[in-house]
Amino acid sequence: MIKAFEQPIYVTRPYLPKRELFCEGLKEIWENRWLTNNGPVLKRFTQQLSNYFNTDNICIFNNGTLALQIGLQGMGISGEVITTSFTFVATTHALFWNNIRPVFVDIEPDYYTLDPEKVEAAITPRTTSILAVHVFGHPCKLKSLTDIAHRHKLKLIYDAAHAFGVQVGNQPISNFGDMSVFSFHATKPYHSIEGGMLTFQDSGLKKNFDYLKNFGFKNEIEVVMPGTNAKMNELQALMGSMLLEHVDKINKKGKQITEVYREKLKGVPGIHLVPGLPKDVLYNYAYMPIEVDEDEFCMSRDGLYEELKKYNIFSRRYFYPLICIHICLFI
Ligand SMILES: Cc1ncc(COP(=O)(O)O)c(C=O)c1O
Repeated sequence: MIKAFEQPIYVTRPYLPKRELFCEGLKEIWENRWLTNNGPVLKRFTQQLSNYFNTDNICIFNNGTLALQIGLQGMGISGEVITTSFTFVATTHALFWNNIRPVFVDIEPDYYTLDPEKVEAAITPRTTSILAVHVFGHPCKLKSLTDIAHRHKLKLIYDAAHAFGVQVGNQPISNFGDMSVFSFHATKPYHSIEGGMLTFQDSGLKKNFDYLKNFGFKNEIEVVMPGTNAKMNELQALMGSMLLEHVDKINKKGKQITEVYREKLKGVPGIHLVPGLPKDVLYNYAYMPIEVDEDEFCMSRDGLYEELKKYNIFSRRYFYPLICIHICLFI
């Protein structure tokens, strides 16, 4: 008889720095009496991220959702955008808040990212962009999507919320496409409690993003666009700054755990694992998705989800329900 875990096991558990070290960092914030509005800790954090991604073309936000929303607004994206329904709702909501019509196309079966052939088939004269998701941190079909975007003169935007620390061919994942958005939410292996970041190729966009996240203020007296409040505060910046040096350790731990899962689940009838990623991908081991074949496994996905609860294990059904089948109430 297998015993239930004494403590509940959730699908994620936030990584935390040593409390004493965080408290030490708080002293600086207390001394500065500067809690938000581009304070010194955020400035330092921004520089660290700039070094990490080897670019000045970054902008930090209070969360990934607003980063994406503002990214689309700041780039002037409109019309129809081809995207995926197999993602967190925020991907689509960011389009909605910009009056953009999402056009959902299907994903490929291996890594669950947008199927390039389906993307190309869905292009119409109204299509302006592709918004693809590196879902579970799996890189999208970068070459094919780039090729389609170039041929059809579309912007290529990546929701990289799950993909912090992922590299392809020794390049950070942020180097691909016109813009990428990252989430630093506490459920992510690397986090700043809540937080988000845009990386982009066109340095001319930076001022738009900076204005938009701060009510459209250009300076003390000029408001030059209808912005919002999406600024990261000093406490978030402190967490993000402290954890940045732990990224490799966090990902290494994820790798060890994933290897155990893959070894133990290999060959279990009805449990399908994601195929190994291409050799040139440095993965962040953010997620450990499995597919359940009800007939082969003799239990449905939902049955397994319920069964695990009896053992104090709280798994999640990602992404369920799919965005395209949510009932959306308008007010
Ligand atoms: C794919 C995806 N996009 C966007 C977001 C939004 O990020 P945030 O929670 O930081 O607002 C998430 C959050 O988990 C996500 O999973």
